[in-house]
Amino acid sequence: MKPLLAPSILSADFANLEKDIKAAEKGGADYFHLDIMDGHFVPNISYGPMIAKTMKRITDVPLDAHLMITKPREYIPKFIDAGVELIYPHIEASYDVYRTVQLIKDLGGKAGITLNPGTPVSHVMPLLDLLDSVLLMSVCPGFGGQSYIEPVTGKITELRALLDEQKPEVRIAVDGGVKKDNIASIRRAGADFFIAGSAVFKADNIEQEVRKLKALLDTA
Ligand code: DX5
Ligand code: ZN
Repeated sequence: MKPLLAPSILSADFANLEKDIKAAEKGGADYFHLDIMDGHFVPNISYGPMIAKTMKRITDVPLDAHLMITKPREYIPKFIDAGVELIYPHIEASYDVYRTVQLIKDLGGKAGITLNPGTPVSHVMPLLDLLDSVLLMSVCPGFGGQSYIEPVTGKITELRALLDEQKPEVRIAVDGGVKKDNIASIRRAGADFFIAGSAVFKADNIEQEVRKLKALLDTA
């Protein structure tokens, strides 16, 4: 599967959001990643569906929303209405996660599920018939700018093998600490959807940084 790069706007300059988004878009961003935090599931608060509506006014690049919130089902319809294409709730957030993922599909979205670094990859198997993508967190969620947790690379390899047996078209996304010096090895382990926040938006030249990360993916 063609590797996709999704810059996370959490690290963008919100005083110059449109400028940052346009630069990443010019560099070839495949998605923009929206980190939704409620101060309960993670110890940080970010933004809600309004940011998706704002992004839709700025760019035609598709959006994915990573829901770090305890009540995903209450907000999924709002994110779909706001134009988000792909939604990643957390498997750890609710006891009835099957219904959560089902709701995304019923509303016409692409369904993802997110696993924290300590959650075994086998936990996604009962959801597989509904899933388009599995997001493996490579940091503990809540903040940008943390370091990649190395053992997650083994989880990518393990999950790729499981998916190849049962539903090979499901993508593997990786989020947290993705940088120029590790993106190629994460790709080789079997990931194909790369979320990068600080690597893109803290760079001096955002457009060029997106190009460099994409070139590393293409030659990995
Ligand atoms: C962390 C978020 C990430 C974050 C990634 O909770 O889910 O998407 O923005 O930031 P970097 O790439 O800086 O680790
Ligand atoms: Zn994220």
